[in-house]
Amino acid sequence: MPEKPLILARAEAFVRARLEADAGGHDFHHIHRVRALALRIARSNGADPVLTELAALLHDVADPKLNPSPEAGRRALAEFLDGTGLEPGARARVEDAIERVSFGAELAGSVAVLAAPARPKSPELQAVQDADRLDALGAIGIARVFAYGGHKGQAMHDPEIPPRVGLDQQAYRGGKSTSLNHFHEKLFLLKERMNTPLGREIAEERHRYMEAFLDRFMGEWAGER
Ligand code: ADP
Ligand code: NI
Repeated sequence: MPEKPLILARAEAFVRARLEADAGGHDFHHIHRVRALALRIARSNGADPVLTELAALLHDVADPKLNPSPEAGRRALAEFLDGTGLEPGARARVEDAIERVSFGAELAGSVAVLAAPARPKSPELQAVQDADRLDALGAIGIARVFAYGGHKGQAMHDPEIPPRVGLDQQAYRGGKSTSLNHFHEKLFLLKERMNTPLGREIAEERHRYMEAFLDRFMGEWAGER
């Protein structure tokens, strides 16, 4: 097997060091899973494997939730990329993918999208975005929901708090809800938002698994199972 480009080894070390301490669902293991799935999707949609892997590794580095400010996040990412000497065209593709990968970014842009159609997504963005969303689904997705909920101290379920639909970004980040509601507020919406046929196929299978889980959860809640 040929040796991996040095830039990928450096990106991995950089991200590992930055994310080591995070308990909010963005640890390095999330990055590892997103990278593996993004590379699998990249083989199906013609995305460049090195740029896909780089974008997957770096996709959460500039996340505002993991930085003192959005500017600080962007600066950290830019400083890393400055040090790699990545050629400008490739760098622009990686930066664009990282910037546009998050669900929040798309929600925030949704009003603008009505006015002007969004720029087409590169194959690398499509692969990494699908992989990032898929990591919120399935068995891992369920585990992450309750891990996040525990971290935030929110109830796993409360029949008196109904799911909030049609959220803008602020309501999505703030506001009180439950872990169970998160399935309805976000996770069950994701399969309609996949970019690639393979991403959609995996999303549909993970979606069904979560529906079965919730069905059983509610049955047990009611003492029916
Ligand atoms: P991203 O940065 O990929 O948009 P988030 O920070 O929104 O991800 O979510 C990280 C993980 O925590 C995901 O698995 C998501 O499902 C879960 N999560 C996010 N918000 C909530 C919530 N309010 N309740 C339960 N789980 C949540
Ligand atoms: Ni992510």
